[in-house]
Amino acid sequence: MNVFPPISAYDPFADATMAEPASTYDFLHSMSPVDFFETYDPPFYTLSKYEDVLAALMDIETYSSEFGQGPRFTPPAGMLSNPPDHTFFRGLVQKAFTPKSIKALQPRIQQLADELLDKVDSQGGFCLHDDYAFPLPVTIIAEVLGVPDGDLHLFKRWSDASVEAMGSEDPTPWVADLTAMSAYIAGEIADRRNNPKDDLITRLVQVETDGKGLENEDILSIVNQLLVGGNETTTSLITNCVWRLLQNRELWQRLVEDPSLVNRAVEEGLRYDPPVLGLYRNTTCDVELRGQTIPEGSKVMLHYAAANRDPEVYDDPHTFSLDRPPSRHLGFGLGVHFCLGAELARMEARVALETLVRRAPDLELVNDGERIKPFFLWGRKTLPVRRG
Ligand code: HEM
Repeated sequence: MNVFPPISAYDPFADATMAEPASTYDFLHSMSPVDFFETYDPPFYTLSKYEDVLAALMDIETYSSEFGQGPRFTPPAGMLSNPPDHTFFRGLVQKAFTPKSIKALQPRIQQLADELLDKVDSQGGFCLHDDYAFPLPVTIIAEVLGVPDGDLHLFKRWSDASVEAMGSEDPTPWVADLTAMSAYIAGEIADRRNNPKDDLITRLVQVETDGKGLENEDILSIVNQLLVGGNETTTSLITNCVWRLLQNRELWQRLVEDPSLVNRAVEEGLRYDPPVLGLYRNTTCDVELRGQTIPEGSKVMLHYAAANRDPEVYDDPHTFSLDRPPSRHLGFGLGVHFCLGAELARMEARVALETLVRRAPDLELVNDGERIKPFFLWGRKTLPVRRG
């Protein structure tokens, strides 16, 4: 069980918070469950109690996704919108993420996990993020989309730029990379209109509902969301799980002895260390909550990670436990915006972890590496490990 030092105010940008966001959750739950953080542009509210986050996720009329799911006010695009537009886009993309199509990817995910470990096997140490947890999801989604293998290095660069830009107040340094990424995807879309292939971009180009197809910019926004929303997050899930298990050797050892616990480890990882700490909604009317008024037109962060450690819902919430009964954690959100890639991410994480405990049971941490930057995402940018 972690014991965090008491704090007197919630500052998402304070060094201590950035280093260990969970150090603020007890304060949020007991002292400031409807927190207002003024020193940001725009200022924002944070909801941290499980009950309140869940209620907000389900009440999309009041807590709208119009003006974006990020900390700033941005125009809605593709799936980052409200119904009915959202329902239309989500319906189309969901067709490509059926349980059957995800299951069909398992052999390839396994092959890739083995290949990545083969590459680092002869080295004493490696970076779990760069050499294993990052290339796995980016390669799979690039293959699903139909992006050529030779261009994968570009996706690493663009994915990094997207993550950095998301968390920065001034995204100017990354604009060139983000523009290059959009131009690249636009080129792929144009190519598929003339040369259809067996891939997701072609399906998005061809798909129609009630005679209505997708414009180039809609496809661009969807592909962008799959790349940006699905890559670093899955990488963080794998990296965070391995990090916590290696920090607590007893847990790692239990997995080595009983790999059937991998599923529980991944679910507990999603509860304990969700890669998306929280996302935003925009209030469409004044909201009265716990004696406070959140005015119409406010940004509100739904703090999934804090909700996942609410002591009213979870016993001993700050302990990473492999014995916890299954629960409805909020690591993938819930409701109409529930993560479309949840099953893919889960499968990738399970395969990655199971392969690692089987092939590298003596793995150990060199140190805790570095944190990724955006304050509402949570993962390691590097995680040095070595064989014991
Ligand atoms: C561990 C990995 C992942 C985490 C933690 C994660 C987290 C989330 C969360 C919290 C949401 C809800 C957004 C909201 O409530 O505003 C979401 C939505 C979404 N995720 Fe994921 N995600 C992951 C992996 C993926 C993958 C692999 C894909 C696809 C390849 C993906 C695609 C999406 C899409 C398209 C949405 C928007 C759904 C909608 O608005 O209807 N995610 N994700």
